[in-house]
Parts: sequence; C-alpha cells; structure tokens
Amino acid sequence: MDLHNIRESYKFDSLLESNLESNPFDQFQHWYQSYAELRIKDSNAMAIATVDSQGNPSNRIVLLKAVEDGEFIFFTNYGSAKGQDLLINPIVSALFFWREQERQVRIQGKVVRISKEKSEAYFATRPYLSQIGAAASEQSQPIDDRSTLETKFAKFQHEYPEGSTVPMPENWGGFAIQPLSFEFWQGREGRLHDRIVYMLERSEWTISRLEP
Ligand SMILES: Cc1cc2nc3c(=O)[nH]c(=O)nc-3n(C[C@H](O)[C@H](O)[C@H](O)COP(=O)(O)O)c2cc1C
Repeated sequence: MDLHNIRESYKFDSLLESNLESNPFDQFQHWYQSYAELRIKDSNAMAIATVDSQGNPSNRIVLLKAVEDGEFIFFTNYGSAKGQDLLINPIVSALFFWREQERQVRIQGKVVRISKEKSEAYFATRPYLSQIGAAASEQSQPIDDRSTLETKFAKFQHEYPEGSTVPMPENWGGFAIQPLSFEFWQGREGRLHDRIVYMLERSEWTISRLEP
C-alpha cells in the first residue's frame, strides 16, 4: 500500500494570539460550536487514550456528552478495558480531529467518576435500546459468538420491556475529565501550523505557542 502521494494543504483559518480566548474552555466552546454547525455525524466524538498497569497505551472513540463546571463528561462501562486502566492510572489524553476545519484539539487531564445520581439522570434519557444494550453488555469481555450476545440482549428485553424502567447497570456511568492542559492545532500553509497550548499552573491558565 503506497500512500506517499496523499498530501493536503491547509488554508481554512489561523490561530493567532490576537484572536484567542484567554480561557481554554471558551476557546474549546468557540471551536466546537463552529464545528457542530457543520452538522457532521458524531461531531462530539473524541479519542481517549489510557495506559494499563504494564504501561501499554490504548485508544478508542467515545462521545463527549457535556462540558460543564470545568469537566468533560463521557459515559462508559467502568469494568471495560478503559475503565480498568483508569482505576490504575486516572489520567487521559483526549483528542478531537475536526478535519473539515483542519483542526485538532488535544486535552490531557485527570479523570474522576461522576456521581451515581448524575449517571442515572443521563441513563434515563438514553433511548430504550441503548439502555438495554448497556445493561446486556459486559463491555470488553470476550464472548463466544454473536448469537450468545443476541440471546443475552433478548433476555434483558424480555425482563424490561419497552416502556418499563431499565435500571442502570451497577458498573456503568460517567467519567469527568478535569483538564490540566489543552493544545489547539490549526493547519496552515507550508506546514507552518499554529499550535497553542494552555497549561494549568497554580490555578491559572498560561498560554504558549509551539513550533509546528
Ligand atoms: C463513534 C463512536 C462512538 C462511541 N461512543 C462510545 C461511548 O460513548 N462510550 C463507550 O463506552 N464506547 C463508545 N464507543 C466504543 C468504543 O470506541 C470502544 O469500542 C468501547 O468503549 C470499548 O473500549 P475499551 O475496551 O478500550 O474499554 C464508540 C465508538 C465509536 C466508533
């Protein structure tokens, strides 16, 4: 497979100190909103990298469900591979790639579980089949075959028919990322990209520029 002729040039925008927000959450909101307006499917998708007890990294997409009170919230199964990693090493690197605007946002932060009440409130808003899917799946555990999974799903559907209250699984809920740093990357011509980093230092956000 030869990919060396794939080459893009980036001209969509710039990111200059003169038009930056002083707070990275405001900068994130500004960029996210402009991306969301494009109505691209899964515009709230982000890659989350974690590290296991052996130091092995892994990465997967999750959906960002809220940014509130200085936290980025996503939901998952606490017993999943990522949930296990986060028990041992509660730090993530989160990455957004907004290709149409030639942008990347990288966040590193501490991770804490959100309260059970908050998770339950969100779980109750999920569509019925998503609730059943979460209840029926021991995420990241091996399973014999597809039909075993479907049988498990059908059993939960039978137990909790549509219209009934599906209880939130014990090991399911939200994680909150509390950012320690943000990097905003804007592609520019000639590979002279803009890279702006915000770092949390003594409760203040400092801003610096990196070489591309
Ligand atoms: C577009 C997209 C959205 C996803 N959203 C979530 C999500 O919000 N929560 C989640 O646990 N998994 C989500 N997944 C599945 C994960 O990428 C991953 O397969 C799963 O969480 C198991 O990961 P783990 O074994 O590393 O824990 C999503 C996958 C895709 C492609």
